[in-house]
Amino acid sequence: MNIIDALNWRYATKRMTGEKLPQEKVETILDALRLSASSMGLQPYNVLVIENPELKKQLQSAAYNQPQIVESSHLLVFAPWSEINESHVNSYINNIAKTRGETPESLDGFRKMILDSVNAMTPEQKYNWAARQAYIALGTALSAAAIERIDATPMEGFNSEEFDKILNLKEKGLKSVALMALGFRDAANDTLLKKKKVRRCKDELFIRL
Ligand SMILES: Cc1cc2nc3c(=O)[nH]c(=O)nc-3n(C[C@H](O)[C@H](O)[C@H](O)COP(=O)(O)O)c2cc1C
Repeated sequence: MNIIDALNWRYATKRMTGEKLPQEKVETILDALRLSASSMGLQPYNVLVIENPELKKQLQSAAYNQPQIVESSHLLVFAPWSEINESHVNSYINNIAKTRGETPESLDGFRKMILDSVNAMTPEQKYNWAARQAYIALGTALSAAAIERIDATPMEGFNSEEFDKILNLKEKGLKSVALMALGFRDAANDTLLKKKKVRRCKDELFIRL
């Protein structure tokens, strides 16, 4: 599978059929998302995976009634941590220690380095930093979906405060930043499907030195 063919095949799908995706395809996309790079490896976000049709209906009205919300098979909500504290860092350090068979104490230097960088940020900077990591995961999932020939729409067109209320994200220490609808394109009703992809030319985009 050529990555360029896959990226040319994909498009921000406006209409989906509502059909359910095979579970193994969903898991492959989620596995790719999980394997995304993140700064210092902290993965400072959660991703809600929503299938419930009533919940999607409720969310649709907080997303300018975009049809993909309810026509998707699965709706992913990217929710960076609203704050990053010592216990987040300790869990990460314990995970490294367990995964690699090391002691948490041997990672004290790394633990301090993460805490120092996180503590140097204002709460707003922390959230923006966490959101940037979530967007890397969104990009990875988008490419993975294309390779798997699963349609996907990255979405920022929603009211995050309303989403956070509906999904009780504040209580979970999360704040939504972006969505991704996953499903099958509705070829008969999606007028965007026939339109050519528009991108800046390479000479304009890249500054080669
Ligand atoms: C972060 C982000 C947010 C977006 N928000 C929406 C959205 O709310 N609704 C929508 O239909 N498309 C949305 N798009 C899709 C873009 O409009 C689309 O990716 C762009 O026009 C390029 O077209 P293509 O993805 O079909 O190649 C979004 C894309 C990104 C990356």
